[in-house]
Amino acid sequence: MTKKTKEPTLDFTTDWAYAPAPEDTKHISLKKQYDLFINGEFVKPNSKKYFATYNPATEEKIADIAEANEKDVDNAVKAARKAFEKWSKIPAKERGKYIYRIARLMQERAREFAVIETMDGGKPIRESRDIDVPLAANHFFYYAGWADKLEYAFPNRTPKPLGVAGQIIPWNFPLLMAAWKIAPALATGNTVVLKPAETTSLTALKLAELIRDSGLPDGVVNIVTGAGKTGAAIVNHPDINKIAFTGSTDVGKMIQKAIAGTDKKLTLELGGKAANIIFEDAPLDQAVEGIVNGIFFNQGHVCCAGSRLFVQESVADIVIRKLKDRMETLIVGDPMDKNTDIGAINSKEQLLKINKYIKIGKDEGAEMYQPSCGIPSKGNFCKPTLFLNASQSHRVVQEEIFGPVLTVQTFRTIEEVIEKANNIPYGLSAGVWTDKGSKIFNLTAKLRAGVVWANTYNKFDPTSPFGGYKESGFGREGGLHGLMPYLKF
Ligand code: NAI
Ligand code: MG
Repeated sequence: MTKKTKEPTLDFTTDWAYAPAPEDTKHISLKKQYDLFINGEFVKPNSKKYFATYNPATEEKIADIAEANEKDVDNAVKAARKAFEKWSKIPAKERGKYIYRIARLMQERAREFAVIETMDGGKPIRESRDIDVPLAANHFFYYAGWADKLEYAFPNRTPKPLGVAGQIIPWNFPLLMAAWKIAPALATGNTVVLKPAETTSLTALKLAELIRDSGLPDGVVNIVTGAGKTGAAIVNHPDINKIAFTGSTDVGKMIQKAIAGTDKKLTLELGGKAANIIFEDAPLDQAVEGIVNGIFFNQGHVCCAGSRLFVQESVADIVIRKLKDRMETLIVGDPMDKNTDIGAINSKEQLLKINKYIKIGKDEGAEMYQPSCGIPSKGNFCKPTLFLNASQSHRVVQEEIFGPVLTVQTFRTIEEVIEKANNIPYGLSAGVWTDKGSKIFNLTAKLRAGVVWANTYNKFDPTSPFGGYKESGFGREGGLHGLMPYLKF
């Protein structure tokens, strides 16, 4: 165990830009077995149980992960409660220093995080390296800055931390979602019990090592691993003050029911089925790039993915032709290869779900298109897929597939596309492509979506709030808004 430093010291000498290429896997350190991170140290689970985590691209086992039971969760909550008494009282500026230190250490270990993220979850290394890890570090930097400025963030009010936050995250952006949850909780003086998703625990456990090395006081962040039962033990623990959940709408609803009548605070970031809308006056080549990025980024395992394409009828033929041509050039395969565009589907389960939806789409009568690329014979892979001439009532249009599958609909008027875009149970995000600023403002006001991108897609920034309407959940993460769910006034 690394010796703990008392005072966090900040080191700004290493520049992220000089970090070595992450595709070099020689220097990553992985253990065969991972325990639970409770009260500043790794401890064996009371359950005595471990489960395997696999590389979805090779189907090889990477490591065994501890399964936390109710007793383990209780130990983690007790550690977090004890730590809260101190953490909430240290000067806010000191809290900020610890969080800056986590951000710095993450940058220094960026290569290792990127490689492990790709190995464990299947996303292309280019994305882990250029998006997930730098954004995760940025999130810590951003919230570190707020730690001693809360009275300015909320003038004339006296913000106070809630206590212990239980945080449950999904497998599509494992490290980034951990950062989205932990950084604002710490900045506001709360302590944390976080559970990563069962298929992607490794970067959260690496983060636990980093947090231990950072000298953060014991028990401020606890990381317990396991599946739904472990998650439920967090949700139902009586000494937790807040639950922050990102994942499926089904589980989100269960959590909402489970905590009804308690005074736990709740934020839910759930599914989505975003409309990506292309008008005839849009820069079409750019729009095609935006369509591809909107749905094929991270294999389509993105809650805000632009999974429903709406193209204005007058340009539909040309956009679809350009889109098909572009799809021919996409490389599907080894996530560790920096040229790969579409990596591995995160789990066998998820691949089965996507394939089920592809069959449903065909049976419903939409016209399926896939490019001629091959896919590796081993591992969980899926070709990028279009459903042309899809209609609003098709299940592939209404339901979240969470894979590289795009439905294509055409429209004539603005009113028609707004009506169709909103006619869905979800309301997380949307995209608009047009040359006209007035059209953008008209649409952003009428689209029932928490985030609307204009002439771009899937752009994330820690300063910008993110969250949904309707069955996409409630509460915001990111930005000033992201502080509020962790405070009482
Ligand atoms: P899930 O909602 O079951 O998993 C998300 C997290 O919740 C994981 O950490 C899981 O262990 C935990 N969990 C599961 N059951 C729980 C319970 N009863 N109480 C507390 N925590 C619990 O998602 P799953 O099954 O992995 O994926 C199924 C579908 O959900 C996907 O195909 C996709 O459509 C959607 N999904 C959406 C996400 C988003 O970011 N909007 C993320 C993950 C999944
Ligand atoms: Mg599940």
